[in-house]
Amino acid sequence: MVLIKPDALRRGLLGEILRRFERKGLAIEALVLRGMDAALADQHYAEHVDKAFYPPLKEFMTSGSMVAAVLSGDQAIEVVRTLVGTTDGRKAAAGTIRGDLALSNRENLVHASDSPDSAKREIGLWFPDLV
Ligand code: PPS
Repeated sequence: MVLIKPDALRRGLLGEILRRFERKGLAIEALVLRGMDAALADQHYAEHVDKAFYPPLKEFMTSGSMVAAVLSGDQAIEVVRTLVGTTDGRKAAAGTIRGDLALSNRENLVHASDSPDSAKREIGLWFPDLV
């Protein structure tokens, strides 16, 4: 599952980012435009709530609408994370979404589930009707 973060929508990059996933051959199985409130942020980022970077991350992630999408395809989780690039846009490889379009480790355009278990958990939060 991916979240296309508030910075992407503010910058008009939603179409560009979805296009990259579609061109790779991934299928969009579900998609919703919505915001994240404080309670959902705490659930979504449960493993990070005690970290020093969590308060600014939470403030950013609750600052505007975003798009949540479920993507499918062969090895979709790994493929998506390769397309997205590493956390810090300043260091992410050129050719990746973050490497080409982001200059931050907070405003880095996309969140991508990092394992089948986290994908299942996050889909339950964002698409309760699918589970
Ligand atoms: S960790 O600790 O290695 O698991 O963290 P990482 O995967 O690099 O990052 C987890 C999410 O935290 C965001 N992040 C930050 N936000 C605000 N400020 C700072 N300094 C910061 N550093 C990391 C990062 O964008 C990740 O968000 P998601 O949505 O998971 O991609």
